[in-house]
Amino acid sequence: MSKLYDALNKQFNFEIESAYVYMAMAAYVDSKGMSGFNHFMVQQAKEEMAHARKFYDYMMEMDQTPVYTEIPAPKAEYGTFKEVFETALEHEKVVTKNIKEIYKLAQEEGCLDTQQFLNWFLEEQREEEDSFRGIVERLERINESWNGLYIYDRELAQR
Ligand code: FEO
Repeated sequence: MSKLYDALNKQFNFEIESAYVYMAMAAYVDSKGMSGFNHFMVQQAKEEMAHARKFYDYMMEMDQTPVYTEIPAPKAEYGTFKEVFETALEHEKVVTKNIKEIYKLAQEEGCLDTQQFLNWFLEEQREEEDSFRGIVERLERINESWNGLYIYDRELAQR
C-alpha cells in the first residue's frame, strides 16, 4: 500500500473508531438518564459509520482493499456532560487535522481524485466542529443545572 493509501486506510479505521467513541459516550449519557443526549450521540455514531463507508467505497474504486485494524477501548466515564462534548469536540479536531494531512499528501503525490474525494470531508468537518462547539457553549451556560440539562436533553432528542 502506498503512503497515501496507507493514510486513507488509517482514516477509514479512525472513522470506525469515532463511531465506537460516540457509542461509548451514548452509553454514558444514557446511564445518567439523558435520552436526548443519547439519541444525539447514537446519530453521530451512525454518521461516523457512513464516513467510514465513504472511505471504504473510495478505496475500492481505486482498487485498494481497505484493511480493518484494531480499535482501542473508548473512554467510558466522564465527570460532567460538558466534558463529554468537549472530548467529542477535541476528537473532531483530530479528525480535521488527519483529513488535512491526507489532503497535503494527495497534493504531494499529485492525486487529484483523492483531493476531490476529501473536499466533502473538509466541509463536513467544519460543520461537525461547529456543531460540537455550539453544544459545549450551551452546556457552559447551563452549568450542570438539572433544570437546564433536562430542557436541553429534550431539544437534542429532535436531531
Ligand atoms: Fe467522521 Fe466526525 O468525523
